[in-house]
Amino acid sequence: MAFVTRQFVRSVSSSSTASAAAKKIIVKHVTVLGGGLMGAGIAQVAAASGHTVMLVDQTDEILAKSKKGIEESLRKVAKKKFAENPKAGDEFVQKTLSSITTTTDAASVVHSTDLVVEAIVENLKVKNELFQRLDKFAAEHTIFASNTSSLQITSIANATTRQDRFAGLHFFNPVPVMKLVEVIKTPMTSQKTFESLVDFTKALGKHPVSCKDTPGFIVNRLLVPYLMEAIRLYERGDASKEDIDTAMKLGAGYPMGPFELLDYVGLDTTKFIIDGWHEMDSKNPLFQPSQSLNQLVAEKKFGKKTGEGFPPLVP
Ligand SMILES: NC(=O)c1ccc[n+]([C@@H]2O[C@H](COP(=O)([O-])OP(=O)(O)OC[C@H]3O[C@@H](n4cnc5c(N)ncnc54)[C@H](O)[C@@H]3O)[C@@H](O)[C@H]2O)c1
Repeated sequence: MAFVTRQFVRSVSSSSTASAAAKKIIVKHVTVLGGGLMGAGIAQVAAASGHTVMLVDQTDEILAKSKKGIEESLRKVAKKKFAENPKAGDEFVQKTLSSITTTTDAASVVHSTDLVVEAIVENLKVKNELFQRLDKFAAEHTIFASNTSSLQITSIANATTRQDRFAGLHFFNPVPVMKLVEVIKTPMTSQKTFESLVDFTKALGKHPVSCKDTPGFIVNRLLVPYLMEAIRLYERGDASKEDIDTAMKLGAGYPMGPFELLDYVGLDTTKFIIDGWHEMDSKNPLFQPSQSLNQLVAEKKFGKKTGEGFPPLVP
């Protein structure tokens, strides 16, 4: 009896796995919206892993700059990967670049794409307007994904009529180096969409993790409150930023202390994220703003990109 039950379960589960797999979208053609820091990286890794890519941005000048950046990044990859065979390295760079086409007119190209990955400015209204427009032109099967760090995926998906084919695909900077991709499932994302995106991220050579559509997903939800708590420690004068960094490196084994990391992430980006969460849930103690962070951002001191961040603690 137990054997029969086991056989039955096995045959049902293998046939349901097979039918789910049969229904999945195998992504071959990707449209990347936004050729900035993240979009260029996503286009690069997608093309380098055998996908054909359409890269979209607002002007031809931005796209030319973006493609130049991709070429430089690919040359670095090739130098390492084909250290013994520079000719094969050159071929890899040329082949990858030839898989990336650019355009300023997204609506005219999305009819033939399997996946649209959006990495434009972090503004809900702008993202919604773009997705709403493209929804009308994209093929029925096309999956839409946003790389947003701080916005709710559900609110972007709701601008379209394809909520079941909409998810978050959160890459990390620099995309060619960072292995992690968070695949965000809203309550409306279908299992087929989710599995198709998991397969896509694996095809890129990345490691997918899954998370529900909650503020900060996994990494930022843990990281941003930690950075904010380090600022509060400093604000109260409990410890200097140098000692906080040293303590977390030597005591917790972190490769960087929180202030060093804040400089990389950007004080402006951190403030933007915490302000957004505070607006969503002002009572949450983890989402409280910081006066000194606000002050520094108002003075345009953003960390590494401006060369100035938190000053040493005045005793
Ligand atoms: N920078 C990071 O570390 C990081 C990490 C993960 C996720 N993200 C998210 O990725 C997205 C992009 O961030 P980024 O750092 O690459 O920004 P970025 O400013 O470097 O690039 C954004 C690009 O989008 C283009 N753009 C703006 N509106 C457009 C439109 N309507 N159509 C086409 N292109 C348009 C801009 O011209 C620009 O080139 C944001 O949602 C951000 O939250 C950023």
